Amino acid sequence: MKRPAIFLDRDGTLIEDRGHLGDPAQAVFYPETAPALRRLGGQFLLFIVTNQNGVAKGLTRLEDVRRVNEHVAAVLAREGIEIREIYTCPHQRSDGCACIKPKPFFLRKAEAEHGADLPRSFVVGDHPADVELAANAGARGIYVLTGHGEKHRAELRVPCAVEPGISAAVDRIGAERAAGVLRSGGLAAFPTETVYGLGADAENEEAVRRLFRAKGRPTGHPLIVHVGGPLEGWAAEVPPAARTLAERFWPGPLTLVLRRGARVPQVVTGGQDTVGLRVPAHPLARAMLAAFGGGVAAPSANRFGKVSPTTAAHVREDLGTDVDFVLDGGPCAVGVESTIVDLSSGAPALLRPGGVPLEAIEEALGERVAVPAATAVRAPGRLGSHYAPRAEVVLAAPAELEERARELRSAGRSVRVLRLPESETDAARELYRSLREADAEGVEVVVAALPPDSGLGRAVADRLRKAAGRR
Ligand code: TXA
Ligand code: MG
Repeated sequence: MKRPAIFLDRDGTLIEDRGHLGDPAQAVFYPETAPALRRLGGQFLLFIVTNQNGVAKGLTRLEDVRRVNEHVAAVLAREGIEIREIYTCPHQRSDGCACIKPKPFFLRKAEAEHGADLPRSFVVGDHPADVELAANAGARGIYVLTGHGEKHRAELRVPCAVEPGISAAVDRIGAERAAGVLRSGGLAAFPTETVYGLGADAENEEAVRRLFRAKGRPTGHPLIVHVGGPLEGWAAEVPPAARTLAERFWPGPLTLVLRRGARVPQVVTGGQDTVGLRVPAHPLARAMLAAFGGGVAAPSANRFGKVSPTTAAHVREDLGTDVDFVLDGGPCAVGVESTIVDLSSGAPALLRPGGVPLEAIEEALGERVAVPAATAVRAPGRLGSHYAPRAEVVLAAPAELEERARELRSAGRSVRVLRLPESETDAARELYRSLREADAEGVEVVVAALPPDSGLGRAVADRLRKAAGRR
């Protein structure tokens, strides 16, 4: 199986460009290089492609260049980043060699010897020759403005993306790769400001069916469709209240249930004629949606009934190889799922408390929002057993937490007291991470107190109640 690769220029891209380096001690990494490459999570073959014309000019020796290369690879290896091979062209242009950029010599070599899939690969560099190299190999070029990037920017002759540095370049690669996976009918996990989503092309029924299987979710449970902007085609109609909420809270942690538009297949909505729509705010989700162009059906990227993931590592733990690509956008800022408001039939109703407080929604609408106790809609967020860690969750009044824990311990059970921060927003951000931690510790019982039912506390209390519900 061929794999997508990234071909990285060395000087001015990974390390500062300080002329003809002959000594590893002179290599200065950009601080963002290792963290950015680590976010790729080993999902690309990584190569360095560097031109060291100082060798041809007699300014450096090839063996010194090699020592610098080995040092660069060793530093990255210590950070858990594997560079498959470093390709060095020691010539200058007047030598007329076969390997100087932008000739695709080394990329073809990587294709033949390492199975690099060039049409799905990227070249990142700070010289126009780097992005021309991409064009010549049928790969995607990303030009960075570090190193000599600013200086040579006006000389760019081929279409390419331009980014401030390696970190933004890696984010773009991730967003474009996720979009490519979606386009080919695959499953891509992506960050949102609430929790990570497991995405499929909403208009590809086969992909959506695969998504249900990967998640282990019964097919009757509707999915939220994530879009980049306008609702045309996704909703059959957008009532004034929906416009008001969309203007006020999108992009953001709000899902609107509206009448299903023509682009939404039945599999997505579990056969219902309404659809949940959301415009997420996370910059990587937005970049992925922009690169993809369509709608992305996505539940939270965990197995059905488990705690939602708030980091890329959570997604990998839960879904392993059932997901084709994980786009890492760091820990989620909100930490609980979106608020779901049903506007499909007259009076607005709150189907799930979440990242936008109910109070803010009522204020924007200028009316009270009904909070139905139960609904005919098959909504997993409304099942008692949803959002549950492996451990049993026991609720107690704040003042009785320790006592309750003592009782359970003396009955021979291992217990963790869940202490969430005072601030509602901090509590929401930490809720799922701490439930996962409890599971990782292997405790049998988590004892928790409910925060007050206001602001984001309502969503936290809701999830804790559901986690405490009978399995
Ligand atoms: O924050 C979120 O909403 C996250 C991120 C990934 O966007 N997504 C999420 O999806 O929580 P999921 O599938 O775990 O929960 C979606 C909820 C379910 O309770 C589902 O029943 C409800 O949305 N839902 C979706 N479409 C609906 C519809 N047409 N009518 C009523 N409820 C709907
Ligand atoms: Mg360079």
